[in-house]
This record gives sequence, structure tokens and C-alpha cells, in this order.
Amino acid sequence: LMKTYSEEYRPQFHFSPDSAWMNDPNGMVFYEGEYHLFYQYYPDSTVWGPMHWGHAISTDLVHWQHMPIALFPDSLGYIFSGSAVVDWKNTTGFGSAENPPLVAIYTYHNPEIAKAGGVDVESQGIAYSLDKGRSWTKYEGNPVIPNDGNRDFRDPNVIWNDEIQKWNLVLSAHDHVQIYSSVDLKEWTYESSFGIDAGAHGGVWECPDLFPLQVEGTDETKWVLIVNINPGGPNGGSGTQYFLGQFDGHQFMADSKETSWIDWGRDNYAGVTWSDVPKEDGRRIFLGWMSNWEYAQVVPTEKWRSAMTVPRALSLIQKNGQYIVKSVPVKELGKIEDRTMVVESEALKIDGEKELDLHGINLNQSRLSFEFDLGEAHPESFGLVLENDLGEQVKLSYSTSTKQFQFDRTKSGDMSFSDKFTGVASAPYDIGTSVKLELFIDAASAEIFVDGGDLVMTEIFFNSKPYSKLQIFSKGNPVTLNRAEIVALDSIW
Ligand code: FRU
Repeated sequence: LMKTYSEEYRPQFHFSPDSAWMNDPNGMVFYEGEYHLFYQYYPDSTVWGPMHWGHAISTDLVHWQHMPIALFPDSLGYIFSGSAVVDWKNTTGFGSAENPPLVAIYTYHNPEIAKAGGVDVESQGIAYSLDKGRSWTKYEGNPVIPNDGNRDFRDPNVIWNDEIQKWNLVLSAHDHVQIYSSVDLKEWTYESSFGIDAGAHGGVWECPDLFPLQVEGTDETKWVLIVNINPGGPNGGSGTQYFLGQFDGHQFMADSKETSWIDWGRDNYAGVTWSDVPKEDGRRIFLGWMSNWEYAQVVPTEKWRSAMTVPRALSLIQKNGQYIVKSVPVKELGKIEDRTMVVESEALKIDGEKELDLHGINLNQSRLSFEFDLGEAHPESFGLVLENDLGEQVKLSYSTSTKQFQFDRTKSGDMSFSDKFTGVASAPYDIGTSVKLELFIDAASAEIFVDGGDLVMTEIFFNSKPYSKLQIFSKGNPVTLNRAEIVALDSIW
């Protein structure tokens, strides 16, 4: 569009800040044809620091326009993560029925109190905009939820609940989430807590989100509670767990205390969903931060640090008697599809290794899709390798004995920046007689969707030259590649 980003490792179709440090997506709200993305931002450095809300706008979830910083730290503290809503009924009185305010609900993190070793470091504040998110005014009555005695007390996420005709807010408090309600977004009533005896507890609970999803193909609705956790993710460090259950505006009742994971890769964190996407659209759209606190601040990028995942539509399905939340890249990404190469006419039987002819398509900015047939006698393992002529590679494989997908980045390129970066990520998966794999590759990341998003893995890497070879392999028995699609993707900038 107006810019080109040519730095090493700079993603071309993912959102990244123009310069400096970024972490969590914040305040995602749709209003008047615009998707707003705010994000944890420290404009003065490429490592974490006093947090601001950076801002970007898109009309299609694909192309983004950088906007001026929306929220700056003030005397109450840094501006930590949170959400935003359209206050359609002007319950706050900040706007009018004709011009409903956008309201951001975020955490104040007070560095002075933190330094002094105090507990009441974090509280919740609000701000509003009457000009479609271009300028923001903080509420003079902040904080709207004072600290409750938990040192970790943050990341409020708000939804309008039709059933009780009130706002509901969920925030995380160290090892559980707390649910609140309000009629005006200013005065909040504590309703209940969830999680002390449920889910993963390998780290601190952060960035929750609570919303209903209809079970695909039925009239049944369940509530999804997303809770990010760091560390303690499924493959170390940061991860995103979710629970399914019922919610009556007061209490979340989980179907099971067990954790499920939105993404099994190591690089999808702090993800939450867009608010106020029109009912006619009906999607719950998720976006995560494509990094991991284990090494986020030392990855080898120079001018900026980190990117977001591609936006993903969440849906709730039943599979093998289980409910799962699946993630599918938003269909709007089809807009950046360029040259396509299809292998299908003669299904390829792969016994050993087979390099696919890319016909000049740049793998480093591509969507790859494969349909495999496993046959009567399943192979021991099969998968694919992306490689450059320096021998650097990443490998995605499935093992039928361990029933796991694995993503191996141990030879991916530069790994010198952190010893936490190495290793192989694994994800359990019950494979059928055929399987579909889709990968989005963008300079330094792979987002892997198995069977249309039933399993997801997001992983970053730092290859010193673009990967230029694509190899399919099978061990034990052959695997048949029924169809492959290799699609060049345009830059969004
Ligand atoms: C998650 C997180 C949030 C917090 C923010 C601070 O990555 O730790 O809990 O609000 O980052 O930048």
C-alpha cells in the first residue's frame, strides 16, 4: 500500500508495528465498517517497557493502516491489556444514542507501587472515543475496579449480555478469573470466580475472554472461556487454554475442569476476539500475538519486535463425541492470493522423499495446502520439510505410533538468541484415513491448520535465507498426496 517492509524476518501479510516493541492484541472492536486493533506497545524500545495502546485500523482484516498511539501511561500507571466495546445504548452517558461511544476497558499497572513491593499494583480503568476511535478521553472516575488484593489483577474483557441486560466483564486474578457485571461500565459488581480448581496452573492466568458460540449445525449454544497462561503452555512458556460451559450472567459453569488448547504451537499468545462484529456476519474472530514470553524480547529482529497471527474465525464443532473450538484463517485472506500451483491430476504416491516443483513460487510468503491419503497400512510417519540451500529447515511430521504432530525448528536458522527457543513442539491428534494440512508461511512464521482447523500450531523461526525447497516424506508405508496447492501471497503493505 504505502509502505514496503524489507527488513530481514519482516512479515509481509501479518500485522507488525512499524517500529518498536509490541505484545498482546487489545481492544479489538468493529465499528462503522472498521476493525480496530489496539496492542500493547512500547514506542521507545524493541523490548517491553511502559505500556501504551498502539492502534491500527482495517476494513477487511487483511490490510492495516497504522494509527497514532491511542492511550498513553498516566499517573495511575501503564496501560496494560484490555478490551473495547461499542456502547450502543450510551449506558455510560459519554456519547449519545446517535453517536454511541467506543469504550476501552483496560488495566492500569502502577510501576511505583510495584517497585515499593505493594500488592495493589493493578486496577481497571476506562476511556472513550466519540470519533470512531481516533481520539480517546480517559474517564475521570478511574479506576472503575480498584485492586482487590491480588497482585496480578488484569486484562478485563467486556461483553454486552442480552440475557441480563447488563455488561459482563471477565478479568484474570493470578490463578483464576473473576466475573463482574455493570449497567454503565463504570460501577461494577463482583459476581463469581472460576478456575482455582480447574485448568492448567503452570503459570499466571492472563487475558481472558468469554463469549457464546453456537455448536455448528445445531441450535445449541455454549459459552467459551478463553484463558491465556504464562508459563505453562502445552509446549512450554505462553499458551492459550479454553473451557466450554454455560454462563447465566453471574457464574460460568464449565462442562469439564480439563483444559483444552486453542493452539498447540509455541507462538500464539494473549489471543482474544473481536467485539461487535455484526450479527449478519456472525463470526467470532480471534487474533493472537505470535510470540512467547520465553524469548519474545530477544528474537533477532532489529527495528521492530513481533507480529500478530492471521485473524482466525472460531467455531464450535462436535467431533468424536467431543466439543472442540476450531480456528480457521479468515476468508478475507483470499484477497491476497496470487499465483497458484496445483498438483492433483495424478495423485502422488510418496515412498521416501519427494521434492515438489514450486514453479517459481516464493515459499516464504505462501499458503500451502495438502490432502493426504494414509491408505490401508498407515505410514510410521509422514510430513513435509521446508529447506534452504544452507541446509536450514523446519519440519512438520505426524507419527502414527505416538499419534502426534510435531513441529521441529531445531535446524531452522538463527537460534543463538535463546536456549529456550530450541526443541520440538508436539500436539496429540487422532488422525483419520485422510488428512488435510494447510500452512501459512510468512518470512519467519508458520501457522498450521490440520483438517480445517481442528488442530492448530503456530511457530516462528529465523532462517538466514528464505526456504526454497519443499519436500514431502513418508516412512514405513507410502502416503498418497491427493492434492497440493501452493499459493503465492501478496504483501499487505
Ligand atoms: C500478557 C500480559 C498481560 C498484560 C500485558 C502487559 O502478555 O502479561 O497480562 O496486561 O501482557 O504488557
